[in-house]
Amino acid sequence: MTEVNWQKLVEAAKLGYQRAYAPYSNFHVGAAALSLDDKVFYGCNVENASYGLTVCAERNCIAQVVISGTHKIKALLVYTEEEKLTPPCGACRQVIAEFMEPDALVKSINHLNEEKLWTVNQLLPDAFTPKDLL
Ligand code: THU
Repeated sequence: MTEVNWQKLVEAAKLGYQRAYAPYSNFHVGAAALSLDDKVFYGCNVENASYGLTVCAERNCIAQVVISGTHKIKALLVYTEEEKLTPPCGACRQVIAEFMEPDALVKSINHLNEEKLWTVNQLLPDAFTPKDLL
C-alpha cells in the first residue's frame, strides 16, 4: 500500500474540528479519512439536545466518504485539542471495521502533535464485518 500522507489528513481534520457542534460536552472533535482513490474527507462531531443522538466526528466523516460514492477507506485520523489523545469510541470502531481493512491505520493526534497509531484490528479484534454475512 502507498504511504499515507498524514499531514493532509491533519489539515482536513482541523477543518472538521472547527465545525464541531458540541455545545453540550464542549468536547470538539475533527476526523479525516483517506479513501481508496486517494481523496480526503472530513467530519466533525454533531451533538443534539437529545444527547443520545450525538454522532461522532469519525462516523460523520465516514458518511462523507460513502456519500462520495466510494466505500473503501485507507486511513482515518482523529484530531482534538485535548492533552489526552482521543481514541474512537466503541460505536465508531464498529463502523470503522465496516469500511476499513483490519490492517488499515487509524491515528489520533492533538494540537501538541502527540499521536497514537492503531490498526483497525487493534481497535476491534474479531470484528463482525460484512464478510461474516456471506
Ligand atoms: N466524540 C467523537 O466525536 N469522537 C470520538 O472519538 C470520541 C467522542 C464526541 C462525541 C461527543 O460529541 C463528544 O465527543 C463527547 O463525547
